[in-house]
Amino acid sequence: MEVKIKPTYEEMSRAAAQEVAHLLNTKPNAVLGMATGSTPLGLYQELVRLHREEGLDFSQVTTFNLDEYVGLAPSHSQSYHYFMHENFFQHVNMPKQNIYIPSGNTGNYPAFCNWYERRIEECGGIDIQILGIGSDGHVAFNEPGSSLTSRTRLKTLAKQTIDDNARFFDKPEDVPIYAITMGVGTILEASELLLLANGENKAWAVGAAIEGPVTGMVTASALQMHPNAKVYLDDPAAAQLKMREYYDWIEEHRPGAPQYY
Ligand code: PGA
Repeated sequence: MEVKIKPTYEEMSRAAAQEVAHLLNTKPNAVLGMATGSTPLGLYQELVRLHREEGLDFSQVTTFNLDEYVGLAPSHSQSYHYFMHENFFQHVNMPKQNIYIPSGNTGNYPAFCNWYERRIEECGGIDIQILGIGSDGHVAFNEPGSSLTSRTRLKTLAKQTIDDNARFFDKPEDVPIYAITMGVGTILEASELLLLANGENKAWAVGAAIEGPVTGMVTASALQMHPNAKVYLDDPAAAQLKMREYYDWIEEHRPGAPQYY
């Protein structure tokens, strides 16, 4: 796991966007795994800027989103369909037919989940999966207790997640209780994982995910099992990391390391 700590949210977002831009410049038909929430907003803004000002091209890109609330129509202002359209897709040249987001309104969740998994495979798998982390250590909506080999499925949200996300809704009781989410096993199959976290309310989860034991109680800890996981943090999110000096030391010496690949 590469842990990259930046002084500010903006610098964290720009550095993470460079990873995505590098992929698209070397593989224009890349498959991206997208995340929602407040964390990746800065990353999306930077990708939009790179598209507008430097011609970063999305015309051959395919995307798969991690999750969606059950029961919200795509037009609902808090649905992840709406979020992605507002904050990203409408600002870049992505073909509509290349956009995949789990349905929160399907009549048959198991069939939809199987189809979603199959589509990821048929598109060649995900090249970079963008991830946030919940204050309870979840990735996507894989709440504590999720299997680390889980696949796309319906999940019941944890009370802590519902409370965290209540800030986006008019009333706390409006937050959906169920979601459809890629599983931890699905996420681990991406070629590269890019986890972003900012703010001190993520410091515990970040510490547990990076330096704690691998456990289904903190599903982000499964990133420790992935051969190509990068974690971008701002300073407050890194506050509980015991090995902070070593992570900074590695980054400082990365340019001088022998290049074998
Ligand atoms: P946030 O959500 O980016 O809005 O903090 C992250 C998550 O719950 O995965």
